[in-house]
Amino acid sequence: MSLQVVSLPGSEPCGDSIARRLGASRCRLESRRFPDGEIYLRVVDDVGGQHVAVVAQLRDPDPQLPGLLFLADALRELGAASVGLVAPYLPYMRQDIRFRPGEAVASRSFAKLVSTAFAWLVTVDPHLHRIASLDEIYRIPTAAVSSAPAIAAWVQAQVERPHLVGPDEESMQWVSEVAALAGCPYTVLRKHRSGDRSVELVLPDLRALRGRTPVLVDDIISSGQTMAATVGKLRAEGLAAPVCVAVHAVFAGDAPVRLQAAGAARTVSCNTLPHPSNAIDVTDVLAESVRVVTGGMVQVR
Ligand code: R5P
Repeated sequence: MSLQVVSLPGSEPCGDSIARRLGASRCRLESRRFPDGEIYLRVVDDVGGQHVAVVAQLRDPDPQLPGLLFLADALRELGAASVGLVAPYLPYMRQDIRFRPGEAVASRSFAKLVSTAFAWLVTVDPHLHRIASLDEIYRIPTAAVSSAPAIAAWVQAQVERPHLVGPDEESMQWVSEVAALAGCPYTVLRKHRSGDRSVELVLPDLRALRGRTPVLVDDIISSGQTMAATVGKLRAEGLAAPVCVAVHAVFAGDAPVRLQAAGAARTVSCNTLPHPSNAIDVTDVLAESVRVVTGGMVQVR
């Protein structure tokens, strides 16, 4: 039995790259929106008896979710032996508890939907904070690929005398791993968020950063507020213009403008979500993880 890769609209370059690396065939998908905005999907190629990996780059998950679930259903109804999901960026991971009474815990509900529709999940650095492992909320086999080796290689090749900086305690897990792999020092700040677009940072002793290039590393740039506030603080301390590195370039609204205005030297990201800042390729590690997760079940052509 072989593996086929089908990409959600907009995720084709990522899906094609993963299929190429796996030596898997691509299954074509026709899609359009009806006049009222509802989605139409048609699986063009035969998936009967095949294992299928759906590749979906979920920057804007709400409009994409119905299509994702309908596609999984259609593939199964058309006779696919199994249907898995490659979501390089896993959305809805930050609302992982009920912060205020009455709130929906989106990470758990999203996990429930995905676990019902798919047989397995492969992703890159999900935002694991209060949840220690995806297995706590997903009922299917999951693999969380680390982008740290790819980021460390980029930092080593592109930045002179780097000193990594994590904007908050949550970033410690990524920053410390990248620093160890790149063989450079790191410092982690403390952040207080008082609203979606409002953060305050507490600086530790920054003397170790003098004469070095600060490299800010975070998992997500969303509003850009966290990175922009960090860049602003470091610049105000007289440090060199920082390089900003994000695993997931969500870049909501005017985030790129905000970061540039704050004084970032450069902003780069992994290609988990398509964005002009993509400079670090993680499709090879994603493909390798698909191979492992489907190993035994799928004989890749
Ligand atoms: C939060 O804990 C994450 O690690 C990121 O720091 C956060 O999501 C970035 O969001 P924003 O760009 O909106 O400040």
